[in-house]
Amino acid sequence: MNNEPHDALNESSEPSSSLTPSSNSAPRPTSGYPQGCPRLPFSAAASYALLRAKPEQDIWVSLLKQHGDIVYLPWLNVYFVDRPSVVHEILKKRHDVFVRGPAFRASFGRAIGRGLITNEGTEWHFTRRLVHAEFKPKSIADSSLSTFRFVQNRIASWEDSAKSGVPLDVSASLYHIHLSLIGKFLFNNALDGLLDVIHGHVTRVSAETYRRSMPPGLFLPWWFPLPGSKRAHESREQLRVLLRQLISTDCGPTIKHLQNAVAKDGKSEQWLEGELMTLLWTGHETSSQASAWMCFHVAQQQEVQERLYEEIRSMEDAIADGSALDEKLPYHKQVVDEALRLSPAVPRVGRTLIEDCEVDGVLFRKNAHIAISPYVVHRHPEYWEEPEVFDPERFSASNKDSITPGSYIPFAVGPHRCIGQHLAVSQMITVLANTVRKYRFTLANTNPVKALDHATLVPSEHIYLRLEVRK
Ligand code: HEM
Repeated sequence: MNNEPHDALNESSEPSSSLTPSSNSAPRPTSGYPQGCPRLPFSAAASYALLRAKPEQDIWVSLLKQHGDIVYLPWLNVYFVDRPSVVHEILKKRHDVFVRGPAFRASFGRAIGRGLITNEGTEWHFTRRLVHAEFKPKSIADSSLSTFRFVQNRIASWEDSAKSGVPLDVSASLYHIHLSLIGKFLFNNALDGLLDVIHGHVTRVSAETYRRSMPPGLFLPWWFPLPGSKRAHESREQLRVLLRQLISTDCGPTIKHLQNAVAKDGKSEQWLEGELMTLLWTGHETSSQASAWMCFHVAQQQEVQERLYEEIRSMEDAIADGSALDEKLPYHKQVVDEALRLSPAVPRVGRTLIEDCEVDGVLFRKNAHIAISPYVVHRHPEYWEEPEVFDPERFSASNKDSITPGSYIPFAVGPHRCIGQHLAVSQMITVLANTVRKYRFTLANTNPVKALDHATLVPSEHIYLRLEVRK
């Protein structure tokens, strides 16, 4: 049987299939809504409270357990869809009807400019085709050795924490590492000296974008100032200036493709800026959180750490041969997959319906919003045994074929699946391999760490590690 990770890896119909209209003509339901799933009789206040609840993810898992894997909330006009077969259908087969919603596109577009993550149709297709070759496994593998050495150097500096016994703020350190990595990938520049500046700007813009994606900000016009709006605006402008400076130097191939499109295809400088900001943003926010969560899980699994250590020690010489890291370090890949199952860095994927549509006996209404949560889907008890248990064996060669399509979606599926998937996985394996080969580590946080949905899945406090240098 096809499995999701394999499925996602082999979705090489780049990206022409995405523009092909679905052959399924959507039936037009004539009777009331919803059909085929419960309508939760929540009042406006209860719906509002649901959106504001923290940690949101736990509430969403309770919705699944109490009411089923597809539910409709009338006040929000939103379907929570966590049934793998329907998730798969929505994201992959009916992507022409379930599109990225205008609210998401507007808020994200205003925050960072229009780019791959906000666009649909020909504009989206143009960029995806232009840059996709640079994100393929072969291109990523070509730079895996230099990436490995770079991360090795950065992680060596954690030794100070090991020697002093002061726990390491691994969330902060990994943020810098992943920002440097995307800087190297895009600009041939590790952004040294700019890391804190960029972090500050990104944090301010993200916070404002988040405030505007939740009530009451959601219901206010964009021009209406919220606390922090002025500073977020200044940060956005500062980031634009920085980007202009960075692209004037020697850039990587992805940026060169984008620059060529300005020179030859009549694309504007504003278009270039939006695409660049999108890649810089998506290329470090998600992967740094994903790596921090991975450390969080592995820090609590000493046996897993020892097995990882054995694998990297036995493959050390092979790192230099230029083939893909996930092939050389299969157990590392299993651990990354399992960390992304329990803590998917993108906890929520949204769509809006542009016409009525039936999927799997459920009638979805035009203009309704769809909230798909990888976090919840990855905990669906019918598809994952003991879902809260960290178990990399779920992704072993003999087990992964039995994973149901649509039940493992950290990078989504379909034409809008994450373009940076192979880059992110390769970086996470690199971080993991370099950490376990040098250190044994345990979790130093004393409070329970909860998962919060801030567009990326963030921990309720930074992750801290207690490190011991391996002899
Ligand atoms: C572990 C890290 C990452 C996770 C979990 C992740 C997850 C996702 C998900 C779920 C989507 C689909 C969103 C949707 O369908 O609406 C997506 C899209 C996207 N991701 Fe990632 N991502 C990660 C890392 C990266 C990296 C390193 C890049 C590099 C630039 C990147 C760039 C993008 C872009 C540009 C899109 C939009 C793709 C399109 O619509 O064509 N992501 N990502």
